[in-house]
Amino acid sequence: MLDVLPPDSARWTDVVARFATRASRFGYGLVVTPILEHYEVFQRVGETTDVVTKQMYAFDDRGGRRLALRPEGTAPVVRAFVQHRPVTPWKVWYVAPNFRAEQPQAGRYRQHWQLGAEVLGVDDPDVDVEIIDLVHGFLRALGLRDIRLFVNSMGDGESRARYREVLLAYWRANADVIGDGMERAEANPLRILDSKRTDWTDLLERAPQLGEYLSDDAAEHFARVQSGLRAVGIDFEIQPHLVRGFDYYTSTVFEFTSGALDAAQNALAGGGRYDRLAEEMGGPPTPSIGFGAGIERILLACAAESVLTDVAPALDVYVVDATGGAEATVVVHELREVGLRADRAYGGRSVKKQWGAADRSGARWGVMVAPRELEQGRVVVKDLASGEQIEVRRAEVAAWIRTQHEGEPR
Ligand code: HAM
Repeated sequence: MLDVLPPDSARWTDVVARFATRASRFGYGLVVTPILEHYEVFQRVGETTDVVTKQMYAFDDRGGRRLALRPEGTAPVVRAFVQHRPVTPWKVWYVAPNFRAEQPQAGRYRQHWQLGAEVLGVDDPDVDVEIIDLVHGFLRALGLRDIRLFVNSMGDGESRARYREVLLAYWRANADVIGDGMERAEANPLRILDSKRTDWTDLLERAPQLGEYLSDDAAEHFARVQSGLRAVGIDFEIQPHLVRGFDYYTSTVFEFTSGALDAAQNALAGGGRYDRLAEEMGGPPTPSIGFGAGIERILLACAAESVLTDVAPALDVYVVDATGGAEATVVVHELREVGLRADRAYGGRSVKKQWGAADRSGARWGVMVAPRELEQGRVVVKDLASGEQIEVRRAEVAAWIRTQHEGEPR
């Protein structure tokens, strides 16, 4: 589990703020659900999925209730939907921590944060395009270029049932290669397809493809998603074995990967349709789609591609005080109230030390309040980049810096 500290956390805030802005531009509202849910909320999303069967942080509370820390964001959103029954289409976004007891490594953590969005209550393929567009444009706007989008269709219930039979027959015919994976293959034949085991690579490549078993409706839906993506200029590749890791997926599934990250954890975002989940949780039939994008991985990819480097410094102004502190309290207050990011030294440090702190702070300007200038109704303003100084009227210093600030290119 990672700690996120300043100044690196500025990039974290930036990524979240950009996503929030973009999601609201697409008409999505923020949804915040508890970090804990009843265990059963997650049981339904993956009875044959490691995330649920092996990696959940589950425990009994003092009242003997079985609870779990959220391992993913979709099930809680659907639980909230079923509980509150909002008007559909229900378009929501979130930023939330998720917990999975995985083997930690770079890009894979036991607590990770996801930005995500979900649309509940429409099965229109145009919504699939909108959801993919939302995450695609977000990643591109961060400056990421080395990204690929993979899409696939898991078909509807009918297509999937036929395919599962064919696939299971294929696994059984190759039981000698599958070895100890046979139990899992029997429980959910699809789960084998997203395995990263290298001794299965050949077998997986030759496996029958779901695309060949799609019903007419499912094939039509998938074709419309593809033409929609082309219409808005989003490049994609069809990956016939992309099945995604949760049991709730139906129809369209997709994943964005980064070529700048290690193959084992290069997925920046993943999602898809889960047309039956709300019903399985006791709600009305509610076709839905969404995605989750890992903040830590996005930041790793940004670092690897050297983008998102020019995050604004934390401060605009640093106040240096030679009056014993009282005047700095007032000046820094005024600066903040006109909308500037301002800070000062505390604890009666020497003027020299305060200027050192001003330089280290990354602020654009320093303001010095000293007795002699104050007597003449002035303060010293220093351009911390060039070292140039001028005197400005004390009463006008906040407005003066504000004007300079607004005139600067950002
Ligand atoms: P997921 O593919 O399990 O999907 O996770 C989404 C993203 O979260 C991944 O692409 C990755 O960027 C990040 N991620 C997952 N696990 C870790 C980890 N251990 N450490 C760091 N990052 C991680 C879901 O969770 C679905 N709820 C997505 C979804 C929403 N499907 C429909 N709606």
